[in-house]
Amino acid sequence: MSTIGIDIGGTKIKFGMFDGNGQLIREDQIKTPKGAIVEYMIEEIKKMVQGEEIHGIGVASAGIVDFQNGIIKSCPNLHALANVPIQVMLENTFNVSVVVGNDANCAALAEGTAGAARAVSSYICITLGTGIGGGIVHNNELVHGYNGYGGEVGHMTIVPNGIACECGRKGCWEAYASGKALERVIASDSDLASKNYLPKDVFNQYTMDATCKRIVDRYLEYLSIGLINLQYIFDPEMIVIGGGLIDSSEHWWDELEEKIDAAASIPVTLQQAFLKNNASMIGASSLVKQGK
Ligand code: BGC
Ligand code: NA
Ligand code: ZN
Repeated sequence: MSTIGIDIGGTKIKFGMFDGNGQLIREDQIKTPKGAIVEYMIEEIKKMVQGEEIHGIGVASAGIVDFQNGIIKSCPNLHALANVPIQVMLENTFNVSVVVGNDANCAALAEGTAGAARAVSSYICITLGTGIGGGIVHNNELVHGYNGYGGEVGHMTIVPNGIACECGRKGCWEAYASGKALERVIASDSDLASKNYLPKDVFNQYTMDATCKRIVDRYLEYLSIGLINLQYIFDPEMIVIGGGLIDSSEHWWDELEEKIDAAASIPVTLQQAFLKNNASMIGASSLVKQGK
């Protein structure tokens, strides 16, 4: 029987239908609606399922997840989702078991099972998208922390009194090194903004255009500082990097590794997510099997 995996992000929601062997058989996505998010999701799931019987639904979402109740307690880039009873709403509609987990934690699970980290037991998975997510795995166990905030690395301070973050604090890592941070920098440059540049265009032009080079260098600087800090705290065997920005990694990956090599005095092993930006959706569907 099939399982549905869903990844709710700040920009888009991805849906996948997986067969009994975990193979992706159907895939779809919608722009993240401003409100009534779960209602839109229900419509989309119905379209995908086409009346077939399903085994369960796994949901990966940005934000702090209350596992017991399947509720997002708070979510910096998706305020409309806070305290919405996702699990109950989906269970009542589809009459199957529903599990909700943090998106980066789900990505970490998927990369550990079938991705870049499958051969290691202690690693960190970082997702670069609208926000920055973190999934910390130590000795094959996700580090949830005492209150469930474990791995919320996007909100560690990187600049004192810096740029305002969606979480209400200032100077968070994701305010400098997420896709949204890059969009903000682009918007503040009249030339790039008039050309409707997206982060991927800036990466694309990295070596060709002086403005793009300056922006990407600064971006990579902040990204590398955060990654090095994580290495000093956890000393993982590997840091896997995924999320939407990994799609343009060919333009910046080598430079990131060089910056890290030059600045860290301990070994830092970086790996690109094998499952690319599907990791959270795949990890979400696998939550159903694990029943947690
Ligand atoms: C949220 C995390 C989430 C990450 C990626 C951050 O803003 O605090 O919970 O994992 O974005 O979506
Ligand atoms: Na996390
Ligand atoms: Zn923050």
